[in-house]
Amino acid sequence: MSGTEWFAVVDSSTRSTGDRGGRRWWRDAAVYQVYPRSFADGTADGVGDFAGVLARLEHFTELGVDAVWFSPFYPSSLHDGGYDVDDFRAVDPRIGTLEQFDEIVKGLHARGIRVIVDIVPNHSSDEHVLFQAAVASSTGSPERALYHFRPGLGENGELPPSDWQSLFGGSAWTRVPDGEWYLHLFSRHQPDWNWAHPAVHEEFERTLRFWGDRGVDGFRVDVAMMLAKDMTDPLPPWAQVSAGLPMLQGGAATAAEAAFEPGSNPIFDRDEVQDIYAAWRSLFEEYDPPLAAVAEAWVPPARRARYASAQSLGQAFNFDLMAAAWRKEAFREAIDQNLGAAAEAGSSSTWVLSNHDIVRHPTRYEPETEGLSPTRRRRIGLERGRAASLLMMALPGSAYIYQGEELGLPEVLDIPESAAQDPVAGIEGVVFPTRDGSRVPLPWDRSHPSFGFGAAPAHLPQPPWFTDFAASVQRDDPRSTLSMYRRALRLRRLMDIDAPLEWTDLGAGVLAFRRGTVLSVTNFSEQPVELPPAPVLLASDLSATATLPPNTSIWLGRLD
Ligand code: GLC
Repeated sequence: MSGTEWFAVVDSSTRSTGDRGGRRWWRDAAVYQVYPRSFADGTADGVGDFAGVLARLEHFTELGVDAVWFSPFYPSSLHDGGYDVDDFRAVDPRIGTLEQFDEIVKGLHARGIRVIVDIVPNHSSDEHVLFQAAVASSTGSPERALYHFRPGLGENGELPPSDWQSLFGGSAWTRVPDGEWYLHLFSRHQPDWNWAHPAVHEEFERTLRFWGDRGVDGFRVDVAMMLAKDMTDPLPPWAQVSAGLPMLQGGAATAAEAAFEPGSNPIFDRDEVQDIYAAWRSLFEEYDPPLAAVAEAWVPPARRARYASAQSLGQAFNFDLMAAAWRKEAFREAIDQNLGAAAEAGSSSTWVLSNHDIVRHPTRYEPETEGLSPTRRRRIGLERGRAASLLMMALPGSAYIYQGEELGLPEVLDIPESAAQDPVAGIEGVVFPTRDGSRVPLPWDRSHPSFGFGAAPAHLPQPPWFTDFAASVQRDDPRSTLSMYRRALRLRRLMDIDAPLEWTDLGAGVLAFRRGTVLSVTNFSEQPVELPPAPVLLASDLSATATLPPNTSIWLGRLD
């Protein structure tokens, strides 16, 4: 490939078809997830903040993403990395101010980039003013009706109302001083709202409008399948409630394992949860263009269309690609299944390889083959990670990119116990078995004390090898992961977004598909494979031309 050809393609940023500026901009958006406390620290306290984001706005433009999704930045006591929200309509003072948020929205919009914020509607934190009021009031009070309070079992109510388990370990019930118990399906600092109460609906509609009116373009809806609950006595045993739950099984679950008919589990994916989203959808449609939403819905694929339909949230995450092992068949199945499900919903598919809850994908793909040195293992993991990313960016639908993924960051696996922040760190059998390793602050440059993250040591320890992954080291290196993402995202803008995916057989161990004028090929095998003669647009290993090495992806064809 000649250098001129390369840059002629990547410098163009217009798109041939589609409606990027219009109603359905999210359908094929590349969305970058910012985990605010670990993105960039502008105030020298070791914690990421809005000042840091404002100083790094160019990163999003250089990368070429269409939208930025901010994980929670609301006031929080940090019992769950910010997903324990004290106040849904404010900014944590350690992160910044509403004025800075407005500046971020303005700055991103001026760059043609949309803004998505995280909404956490299943629970508040136990510091939320409404929960505090509920605890301070008495049994049967209107304040308690906003949450799930109940008397306990046993002679003196000393036993929890049921054997339900928190997804973060231990009982899902905690007792308050007057003897009642409240439900929390996550930590005890995250009481579940009672969505059967109209005031909860009003509270969230206020919140959605608050951010909508401030100019955000959409929402990521946290554990979207859990809001509606059937709390009729007797509460069924946990073994039945939890049977076959996708969230407890890394995304995979089959209806066959479930003890309840689809839509009638007491706490997961109840049919009535859609009434909530139908109301939200009417609210979203009041905006021009309508607000977008993506459901974090851990449901079997057959149920996903309900969340992704135009009458509901519009789009839903699938975590199938993320759950797929490094195998051609696993990737192919995840892709087929989700393109089918998205078409059924009239939506577009979402693709996720990494996020703030799971081990980063280059580390997940490290081979387990015996006798390999740790360095070699890591190298192969990174090669596969880059190949998977390139494949993902060629797929129809939207690609969600987690901060640091564009640097090829591996997981930090050796965070000392004394530095752990995640409440689930070290607990067996919980839904996400430790997440700190994917939340370590980003390395921006080689300088100390925190690789350019900020002027103070970072709030989670960064390992010395972060220096090799620093953005500044990668910026001008055409072989770097950062350069690959930048080129891929620019080329993506030239693709025909309506072009369907057509599988092409290029032999065992090779996953190849055509989309319009582009042929994407990934080599999952252990041997180099011969490529059909065609111009190279981009490869995850720049030495690939006539043959494709193992653990590599390439895009062939023309885009103009
Ligand atoms: C979602 C979030 C996760 C959080 C949980 C509870 O799964 O992604 O980080 O702990 O919800 O809010």
